[in-house]
Amino acid sequence: MLAQPAVRSVAAMTISTAFTDLVGCQVPIQLAGMGAASTPELAAAVSNAGGLGMLAAAVDNLSADIDAMLLAAPARPFGVNFLMPFFDRAQLDAIAPRVPLVEWYWSQPDPVLVGVAHDAGALAAWQVGSAAEAVAAAEAGCDFVVAQGIEAGGHVRGTIGLLPLLDAVLDAVDIPVVAAGGIGTARGVAAVLAAGASAARIGTRFVAAAESGAHPGYKQALIDADAADTVVTQTYCVWWPDSPHRTLRSAVDAAQALDDEFAGDVGGDGDPFQVPRFAVRPPNRATRGRIDAMALYAGQSVGAVRAITPAADILRELAEGTERLLTAAGRHPDRSRS
Ligand SMILES: Cc1cc2nc3c(=O)[nH]c(=O)nc-3n(C[C@H](O)[C@H](O)[C@H](O)COP(=O)(O)O)c2cc1C
Repeated sequence: MLAQPAVRSVAAMTISTAFTDLVGCQVPIQLAGMGAASTPELAAAVSNAGGLGMLAAAVDNLSADIDAMLLAAPARPFGVNFLMPFFDRAQLDAIAPRVPLVEWYWSQPDPVLVGVAHDAGALAAWQVGSAAEAVAAAEAGCDFVVAQGIEAGGHVRGTIGLLPLLDAVLDAVDIPVVAAGGIGTARGVAAVLAAGASAARIGTRFVAAAESGAHPGYKQALIDADAADTVVTQTYCVWWPDSPHRTLRSAVDAAQALDDEFAGDVGGDGDPFQVPRFAVRPPNRATRGRIDAMALYAGQSVGAVRAITPAADILRELAEGTERLLTAAGRHPDRSRS
């Protein structure tokens, strides 16, 4: 059985679990890798505040993002997330020696890829949607697994809610388990830690962080939404078909009402391109057009998004609240991990 979290001092903001011990961070909170939302500024802010910052592989220049991360958060742990429909093996070979953690999502766990990460000296992890996939990840050699419930924002791998999934995954594997999906407050973090998870993975809440690359209109839509305003759909299928994802319902309605082949375009430093209606890509800072009709991914955690705030403030709020709740529940340091 996994060890219970040990809560230490509020000032040091340290909550020790098997996950924090493994990756070398102070707070058992992992930023989700989230495409262009996961800027190096956001990942560095999370890692510098004691969590685990994550970069996304499917960006214009991952190598430059890693350079920026190493500069902004020297000696802090971080990871790179690969989304399998867009996976590039040469990219993995190039970056694995430069990063502390490599993580994958949306395919059967692959021991060969895990081996590449390990041979390069990196930890390896897989985000999964079922207990069977978690077992496959453990058998593939992963150092930890992320259990994603259907409350999650973005693409949704499984078919069951986080608590039953977490229950099944904790019974099925003996590597650390990170819980993902619908967690936006300290209560959520404390609940999954108390249930046996070694960390919480947070996506939607950090999309609205000041450092995120999400378009300001997307952040505002998250602020305006409540937990009941999301829906699992396959609406945003262009460039990645047949894959359920959770978005704001308002975006789906706006996209369906749009009388145009394109919802907008992306300018910025890279090559400009048009964004088809129903494109899988969420709007970032360089996107123009009908932001409200684009893929506004959001988890049921969206009710916790109330303002655009620095990522360090979000992390501090979650860590301090979690510590208070766990201490009140009797998981004080004196009764810490066995
Ligand atoms: C905007 C957005 C983009 C996402 N992109 C990815 C991704 O590229 N890779 C991945 O593993 N998960 C991705 N996810 C899912 C997260 O890893 C995580 O499971 C989810 O955010 C957890 O639920 P929450 O949003 O309620 O915190 C994304 C989520 C969001 C909101």
